[in-house]
Amino acid sequence: MTFSDAEKAAIVSILGKVSGNVNALGAEALERLFLSFPQTKTYFKHFDLKHGSSDLQNHGAKVLGAIVEASKHLDNLEESLSKLSDLHAYNLRVDPGNFKMLSHCILVTLASHLPADFDASAQAALDKFLAAVSHHLISKYR
Ligand code: HEM
Repeated sequence: MTFSDAEKAAIVSILGKVSGNVNALGAEALERLFLSFPQTKTYFKHFDLKHGSSDLQNHGAKVLGAIVEASKHLDNLEESLSKLSDLHAYNLRVDPGNFKMLSHCILVTLASHLPADFDASAQAALDKFLAAVSHHLISKYR
């Protein structure tokens, strides 16, 4: 998947603005995931999923941090996500359908915190980027 210059600019700009706040925003995206799609909690039985928990903050920072990092490799997402792809495919075996739900919750979180940046074109670019990230994370499932 390739990105136009305008799409790249929107993705890099928006994720650049969240890079200093990945704990809180990542935790919010996860909390939205668990509240809106409770079946996703089955993968996190070992976590404390209460609002504001350190598990939510720490894992949120890892997930959103990985997305911020991926935004720096838009021309080479496959290689940059290869290790995470191995983890999700071979170890965690997360059902691929869950990636759409998480992407949606990340999108809503970013939109609600950066409303001025989130016009229709930026939304489309971010949606395409998150779909590309998910595509690579589930690409090794058999
Ligand atoms: C672990 C990123 C989607 C379930 C991780 C880690 C990262 C990550 C960075 C930590 C890896 C490490 O510690 O080395 C992502 C990204 C996703 C995504 C960028 C998509 C945008 C999902 C989905 C689920 C999921 C949809 C399930 C609903 C898990 C679980 C762990 C994990 C259970 C291990 C947690 C633990 O025990 O510490 N993910 N993930 N991931 N992910 Fe994902």
